[in-house]
Amino acid sequence: MQIVENQSQQIIKAGAKALKSGNLVAFPTETVYGLGADALNEKAVARIFSIKSRPTFHPLIVHISTILKITTWAIEIQDYVFDLARDFWPGPMTLILKRSNLAGNFITGNQETVGLRVPSHPVALNLLNEFESLGGLGIAAPSANKFGAVSPTNSQDVVEEIGSSLDKNDLIIDAGQCLIGVESTIIDCTKQKPQILRPGSVTQELISTSLGFNVNFSVKTNIKAPGVLDSHYSPKAKVVISSSANAGEGFIALADVPTPKGAIRLTSPKTIQDYAGELYIAVRKADHLGLDKISVVPPEGAGLALAVRDRISKMIQKNFG
Ligand code: TXA
Ligand code: MG
Repeated sequence: MQIVENQSQQIIKAGAKALKSGNLVAFPTETVYGLGADALNEKAVARIFSIKSRPTFHPLIVHISTILKITTWAIEIQDYVFDLARDFWPGPMTLILKRSNLAGNFITGNQETVGLRVPSHPVALNLLNEFESLGGLGIAAPSANKFGAVSPTNSQDVVEEIGSSLDKNDLIIDAGQCLIGVESTIIDCTKQKPQILRPGSVTQELISTSLGFNVNFSVKTNIKAPGVLDSHYSPKAKVVISSSANAGEGFIALADVPTPKGAIRLTSPKTIQDYAGELYIAVRKADHLGLDKISVVPPEGAGLALAVRDRISKMIQKNFG
């Protein structure tokens, strides 16, 4: 495995070539780092599942370079899909669509749908363009963490998660810290009315304004995330919602909430954007410090705060992909 900090065109081209030859490339997106494989290469995609210890029925997002590629991967597309894509792509939004024949069972976990996203991070877009210039059609990429752990938002965290499982021909492209810090908004677009399955920084309000009608967030999905897997959970600490914490316990809250006496402040974000950007770093810090418990005061309100609360509740349920 090679980690490259330099994002020159030469490195991006090498990344695209590695993907096309069936190797894996971890790369930055504006949300979190992804672990990429050629979405048409079953063997390479199988390695992603094995490295992540991810159940094979848990589908992967296919990353594409442009809205024009939607019809390569999806069929029977609702009109509103193009409105959403025009307004929010490239960006932190994944659309679940009825799959075309190209999207194999090894990507979709045997479902009739496929998740598509055009990321806005310049390195990700550049990699996609180079990959497509070699004949590639899409990069399948989940977050570059072990199943059950929080997503990595910088390349050191990618190394910590999966570095030891990568081969010498695989690559990690480093571009510093991800700006957004929580995963993309996922929207089920298979029905007449879209439904948000995972909240993110393309918010319910933005989506509803774009479409001119109300779009709801519902956790109902036919993806069955397995409830129990003993190992790999991050944070290892027990996460609780509380504004009090005992001495020696971790504490996460907006900057204006005082730290309980003796508690270990893991982050003090001043804004909701900072809260999203720092949440995963803070819980990794708790793991590094070997803390047993983290008290979290979730942010209130709508918008991105909904995504932050969603990820906090996933930490409490220990339910990460
Ligand atoms: O921001 C992101 O979305 C990042 C970056 C790397 O793009 N990716 C990411 O991938 O978070 P992953 O695999 O960790 O989470 C994707 C989620 C999974 O929970 C998966 O079940 C869901 O998207 N998903 C993917 N394809 C789906 C489909 N066809 N139907 C329903 N859910 C799907
Ligand atoms: Mg994930």
